Amino acid sequence: MQERSSSASVADADRPSSRVPGFYRLSLDDRHRELVRRLSLDENERALLLGGGLQPAAADHIVENVIGTYALPLGLGLNFQVNGQDYLVPMCVEEPSVIAAASNAARMVREGGGFTADADPPLMIVQVQLYDVPDNAAATQAIVAQKAELLATCDAQQPGLLKIGGGARELHVRELEASGPKQHGMLVVHIVADCRDAMGANMVNTMAEAVAPRLAALARGRFGLRILSNLADRRVVRVSCRVPTEMLVSDGFSGSEVADGIVLASRFAELDPYRAATHNKGIMNGVDPVVIATGNDWRGIEAGAHSYAAREGVYRPLAIWRRDEKGWLRGQLAMPMAVATVGGTLRAHPGARLSLKILGVRTGTELGMVIGAVGLASNLAALRALAAEGIQHGHMALHARSVAVSAGATGALVDDVAAELARGGQITIENATAILARLRNP
Ligand code: MEV
Repeated sequence: MQERSSSASVADADRPSSRVPGFYRLSLDDRHRELVRRLSLDENERALLLGGGLQPAAADHIVENVIGTYALPLGLGLNFQVNGQDYLVPMCVEEPSVIAAASNAARMVREGGGFTADADPPLMIVQVQLYDVPDNAAATQAIVAQKAELLATCDAQQPGLLKIGGGARELHVRELEASGPKQHGMLVVHIVADCRDAMGANMVNTMAEAVAPRLAALARGRFGLRILSNLADRRVVRVSCRVPTEMLVSDGFSGSEVADGIVLASRFAELDPYRAATHNKGIMNGVDPVVIATGNDWRGIEAGAHSYAAREGVYRPLAIWRRDEKGWLRGQLAMPMAVATVGGTLRAHPGARLSLKILGVRTGTELGMVIGAVGLASNLAALRALAAEGIQHGHMALHARSVAVSAGATGALVDDVAAELARGGQITIENATAILARLRNP
């Protein structure tokens, strides 16, 4: 049996509550004051929040041909409780309503006891492709016979990882079948390595490159690609939650009606890949913003999520919803989660380090469980709206604020213009410009 993590982290008496009633009504300055008070941020960290978390000079050391930085809004997901611990969740995202919706759903889940999560150990898979192999069965036998030596070669590449308890754990040989008369089959060797709190791409790719020549020699063939798989199905996070039905009440809909609507929406996604894609997009609405805020590789997480969703040959939802024996709504999510709290971009990105400080997570596995909870909360928020009054009502109210800003509104005028736009129902730049002109010159 493999170790699985489920306790979020060591209990921390100083951990701030994630309930901050009225936070959205505060000015930016007052939100900062609240954050500084709760987390003892210093002036440099406050300045980081205002400066986008990354100076161009630092960016110049992260990627190539840098000409500047590109900012996105960073907001706080509130009300999150995972395995009994509170988390303030930094979310970096451009889509209005994502943060509010996730926070609102997390508050409903809180009433049902919060999110429960567990996760696999941080195992990454790296693949070595072998081709021109004369005899697949003999090659497989030869490779498996040298497993200990091959894993030791992998470990020798990462002495630091070994010291902290990680390293190569397993080796498997898979035969990929060819189809069609001129196709050649091939072998692929999977090496599974525990990467601890790193994402592990560099670690496992180095292992694969080191061991590939010996694998090819044992197989009496040639090696091709040596690269990790983003289908990180040995590094899966599982999150569940329960919501008391009365929490789901929505304009003119009883909690029970909304719960039934959510179950029906889940079944729809389970039966139809077209719907499953959008259902999963709603989950990624919560997942990606935290992955980005914490400096992790969101393209890898996306690739992992969708390949995992399609692993049985049909694209399926990453989370499903049912009613439990009490009639409460119960959600369950499972998805790969290769995220890190050390290494890579994190070293060079002060904003990402600050996000991790705000979150207060100690390990990559703990971070993954929180991210899974935010994904499940986002899914719940979307399905609740869809099952009741529809998504546009809430969306358009928030969209109105962006339109007001695009029309040139600033300060308190943003909310005034947005409110009037939303009341009128026609949320266009032209209307916003006209309203703004009237409010400026009554
Ligand atoms: C929009 O960003 C996300 C939704 O389409 C998700 C869903 O349909 O479940 C609302």
